[in-house]
Amino acid sequence: MSEPAAPADTIPHGDPFAIFEDWFAEARVTEPNDPNAMALATATPDGRPSVRMVLLKGHGPDGFVFYTNFESRKGHELAANGHVALLFHWKSLRRQIRIEGPISEVTPAEADAYFASRHPESRLGSAASDQSRPLENRQVYLDRVAAVRALYPDGNVPRPAHWSGYCVRPEAIEFWHDREFRLHERRRFVQSADGGWTSTMLYP
Ligand SMILES: Cc1cc2nc3c(=O)[nH]c(=O)nc-3n(C[C@H](O)[C@H](O)[C@H](O)COP(=O)(O)O)c2cc1C
Repeated sequence: MSEPAAPADTIPHGDPFAIFEDWFAEARVTEPNDPNAMALATATPDGRPSVRMVLLKGHGPDGFVFYTNFESRKGHELAANGHVALLFHWKSLRRQIRIEGPISEVTPAEADAYFASRHPESRLGSAASDQSRPLENRQVYLDRVAAVRALYPDGNVPRPAHWSGYCVRPEAIEFWHDREFRLHERRRFVQSADGGWTSTMLYP
């Protein structure tokens, strides 16, 4: 007897944000940790790429938000070239989502609210870190954390001016889903001039 045929096309055609919500909700259940971790690719103006993980801290049709040190390597690259790519890979679901688009800074009020919501120790660590710059040894960093702690004994560390968030406004969102025998499924959504989204299936 032959096996029942697997459905030919399982990634919905409709709203890419709704698909993101569904897949992200599943990942929050199945991933062992950090389902909101995503790779952030940046590039220098002359096209030299670099990539690192960051955490998604807000999302919706307006975009995908992460927070970082604006004086870090990525911060300098973003100041010079405001186009990025994001990548989620959820191993537990065998799924990938790629997002591409320009960035904008979140408002100071949004950044303040998010910074205030972080654990006091995380706030200390961010305030004491010269992210991406050389560190002579780890004790130097720990001493700087202790110095910031002494400045704010109530734990109420204010957000450093150079620490804030970026919102990636997606121009393209692509969903990839593992299928049997590596006959994987891909669907790429691109935003049209009227703000709507069209999608195309791609060879895997
Ligand atoms: C799972 C994970 C999540 C991370 N989240 C963040 C983040 O939200 N913001 C951030 O600045 N760095 C985050 N990092 C550290 C970055 O990957 C990176 O080491 C750091 O931002 C410096 O990158 P840069 O030198 O390219 O600027 C995370 C690392 C991992 C592994």
